[in-house]
Amino acid sequence: MKNVLADAALNQLFREARTYSGWLDKPVTDDLLRRIYELMKLGPTSANGNPARFVFLRSSEAKEKLRPFLAPGNIEKTMAAPVTVIVAYDLLFYEKLPKLFPQSPGMRNLFAGNPQLVEVTARRNSSLQGAYLMIAARALGLDCGPMSGFDNAKLDEEFFGAGRECGGCEQEFFPVGHVRSNFLCNLGYGDSSKLYPRAPRLEFIEACTVS
Ligand SMILES: Cc1cc2nc3c(=O)[nH]c(=O)nc-3n(C[C@H](O)[C@H](O)[C@H](O)COP(=O)(O)O)c2cc1C
Repeated sequence: MKNVLADAALNQLFREARTYSGWLDKPVTDDLLRRIYELMKLGPTSANGNPARFVFLRSSEAKEKLRPFLAPGNIEKTMAAPVTVIVAYDLLFYEKLPKLFPQSPGMRNLFAGNPQLVEVTARRNSSLQGAYLMIAARALGLDCGPMSGFDNAKLDEEFFGAGRECGGCEQEFFPVGHVRSNFLCNLGYGDSSKLYPRAPRLEFIEACTVS
């Protein structure tokens, strides 16, 4: 039998977790980013495809590269955040299925011949993986600020070589032309003095039905 998590854990993960725009001047270490990844990678994805790819931007050079693509309202908080992660997805994720889903050898070919299925699967599952990332970050004491207010196409050109030919896709990591951004997420230790009051959520009766 699994245990129900203690209230302190539920508070940190959900009840008191907020979307932050203000950040304390406290760095996020590479070790912590790795620990987040080691937890979030265990979240489930279709056919265990793991389509999400993550670009952690920390240096001012990397942040400046991102700046032109941000919606005006997202610039200041992103520049101030210790780390911004681009949650992206690899349209060639299925090439790793022989390793990730060895029990079903036909799965790679199912995707290889069906770009629509690839796109919808990669988007759905990278969104889920982005959510796992946020939960893992919160579990390890960090705060998050997710954002979709940016120019995906232009970011993809700059960071992932969208529109360019991969020339054989020799680069295994972020193969040119095959990775697309999903959303961004600022990571750090949030400044709670800058929070607005929590907005309401839909009640069970408004969002759910049981039959
Ligand atoms: C996928 C996603 C995209 C978002 N995009 C933006 C954004 O571009 N700019 C922004 O200020 N907030 C953005 N938000 C923040 C939401 O408005 C915020 O998470 C929501 O209002 C809940 O706030 P709370 O977590 O403090 O309760 C985004 C959130 C998510 C999950």
